[in-house]
Amino acid sequence: MIGDLLSNNLRWAATKTRMDPEYFRRLSEQQTPEYLWIGCSDSRVPANEVVGLDPGELFVHRNVANLAPSQDANFLSVLQFAVEVLRVRHIIVCGHYGCGGVRAAMGGRRLGLIDHWLSPIRALHDERFEEMAQIADFETRVNAMCEANVVAQVRNVTANPFVRDAWAKGQKLEVHGWIYSIRDGLIRDLEVSVSRQPGPAPKRRPRSQPAIVGRVPPGSKPRLVHVCTPDCDHDH
Ligand code: CO
Repeated sequence: MIGDLLSNNLRWAATKTRMDPEYFRRLSEQQTPEYLWIGCSDSRVPANEVVGLDPGELFVHRNVANLAPSQDANFLSVLQFAVEVLRVRHIIVCGHYGCGGVRAAMGGRRLGLIDHWLSPIRALHDERFEEMAQIADFETRVNAMCEANVVAQVRNVTANPFVRDAWAKGQKLEVHGWIYSIRDGLIRDLEVSVSRQPGPAPKRRPRSQPAIVGRVPPGSKPRLVHVCTPDCDHDH
């Protein structure tokens, strides 16, 4: 019942105040989060909760499939405010495995307006078609695309003029790509963090070669997608 939400709110505010009488006064006085979170709207990925942060500590932008599109006024406003006014130190693009948005972009069915929103993922899937076709299981392919999408959005963020301006001014700002698993509640770092203006784009990987990096211990699943950013310091 919708009314339950309002009574829940009364209880929640009362509990918070009982535990810390200054809690709301402190929060209302200023907002100085160090982190901007760009995540999926999926109700199972509550941003603050999964990283153990209180309100006031994480500036949050969520949309379907955690996109960072360079033409989206909503995203751009959040990004500029976070970088230039709040001066966050870290931008985290956090995807999640089994993302319905990514799955929808990979399927052929027309769903409506969302098809337009998801078109960058469809384009990414087309670009990676040969690599993805090597993964027989559809859900594994979806998960590989979820990772690839995070990496692509990290690139979008690092290419964004607000972010580039901040780096040019010497502002400390790191961009990270993470992925969350709804199955176990754990976040994996995709190790594509960028902390300064990237140099020229690296040479493209030959198309026929799947993007598998790292030593894979026997018996464990290989990490399927890792596309290195110019800053990446992996063994290649
Ligand atoms: Co999602």
